[in-house]
Amino acid sequence: MKHFKLVITAVLLFVAQASFATVDQAELRSTLDALYVQDKVASINDGDLFIRQDLGESWLHGSKEAELAVVRDIINQLGKLQLGKFVVDDSPSLVTNIRDEVLSGRQDYYILRDAHPKAHQCVNASFTVENNDFFPIGSFLGDSNIQHDAIVRFSSSNPDPSSDTVHTVRGAAIKVLMGDQTHDFVMQSAANFPTDDLEQFSNLIKVGRTRNCLSIIADPGHDSILGPALDFIYQLQQATQCLIESDFNLLDLPETVRAIMRFRQGFEDSEIKSVFDFDYFSVTPYAYENIVFKYEISPATCPEPNSENRSFTAEEAADSEGLENNIQRVLSGGAACYDLNVVARPTDISDEQAIEFLIETWDQKSSQVLERIKVASVVIPMLTLGADITSLTCDEMSYNNGRNADGFKPLGSINRGRIPIYDRLSAFRLEANEHLRHMNQ
Ligand code: HEM
Repeated sequence: MKHFKLVITAVLLFVAQASFATVDQAELRSTLDALYVQDKVASINDGDLFIRQDLGESWLHGSKEAELAVVRDIINQLGKLQLGKFVVDDSPSLVTNIRDEVLSGRQDYYILRDAHPKAHQCVNASFTVENNDFFPIGSFLGDSNIQHDAIVRFSSSNPDPSSDTVHTVRGAAIKVLMGDQTHDFVMQSAANFPTDDLEQFSNLIKVGRTRNCLSIIADPGHDSILGPALDFIYQLQQATQCLIESDFNLLDLPETVRAIMRFRQGFEDSEIKSVFDFDYFSVTPYAYENIVFKYEISPATCPEPNSENRSFTAEEAADSEGLENNIQRVLSGGAACYDLNVVARPTDISDEQAIEFLIETWDQKSSQVLERIKVASVVIPMLTLGADITSLTCDEMSYNNGRNADGFKPLGSINRGRIPIYDRLSAFRLEANEHLRHMNQ
């Protein structure tokens, strides 16, 4: 069996490397899928997920196996989407035409993140824990006045990374460096999420994929001599085939359509403004030992004045690279700062509502006024000439909501599932890009 696997891998590698000039887009995608996606799907096992029932976590549909199956399914689907396997070649969902990129040798990388593909910039920062009573002394966020180096990646969630003038949810991910440990904070500018649990999110992908599948299937060369009636049957057959292939349960359609509407609303509600004017939210809950909380960062006044106004100029707001231009301009005049605040789990909502469901925020669900407690300061210093983090380095970084200091744990099915999903899909894009680079040499 082992021998057989080795032979298959060798054959696939040979097919991939053999004839670069005649490389076929579909064939290349299948090769990359077989080499770098399917092993990730197969690698998901029992040890990837665990819950803290004592803090109110519960398995999706009450079953760990069911949750593991959804995690595998999402990795398979998103990996294929990243390869453009379910999208037409010039679709905006397909970030790059792999064949063209490989042949032209224009880029050092080909496959971007599945989510938040566009980085506006990665910047160095410092992260200082502030005196607070929320976390105990001896914990990462309880030891005040300790300063750590950090790297912030500002991003947009639009699958098409072309222009910053499009309304879309923005992202900010902070990697705090602490010697041999790192702690990643992964945040977005919307405080809630379009789905409550992991399976609803998987359904959202399936329907999106079916739409792409249909747009591939719509065959311009298919001219029926029997006219529209036969054409309709043909299209119906193809649509059914797409749905069957995506394993979508039609009973889930109403909820999935509602999720799509919330998803779009989230995009529309997002303002076009500087990364330094947004609040960013963890959206999902976390625990430190037995303390359950969410976190967010908010713009703050820096100790030293900045000669540049941080808000967008009219020119930046209209520019397709407006966010990067704004970051460069603001940080040429001084520092930009944020406060990291935490909010404790409200006591008047059920475990399921507090931990497992994300469509509404805690503020919306609770009748209590939820206090924010400042636990750290984030300072992004003035940019030093030549010390920029390059866009390639920025793309090759991996943030993970489960990469935490000792004692911290992400809670809820979406938060749990994201840990192995980010881990495997980040490995996939790095490995596949390395493969493509070698083809290019
Ligand atoms: C089941 C739900 C989710 C799935 C399947 C998912 C999937 C992904 C994937 C595959 C990546 C790229 C990882 C990489 O290649 O390095 C990513 C990045 C990201 N996601 Fe999610 N995500 C989910 C939920 C969320 C939530 C709730 C948030 C809210 C904070 C979020 C915010 C982000 C951000 C900001 C990034 C970019 C991080 C970076 O700069 O590297 N995601 N997501």
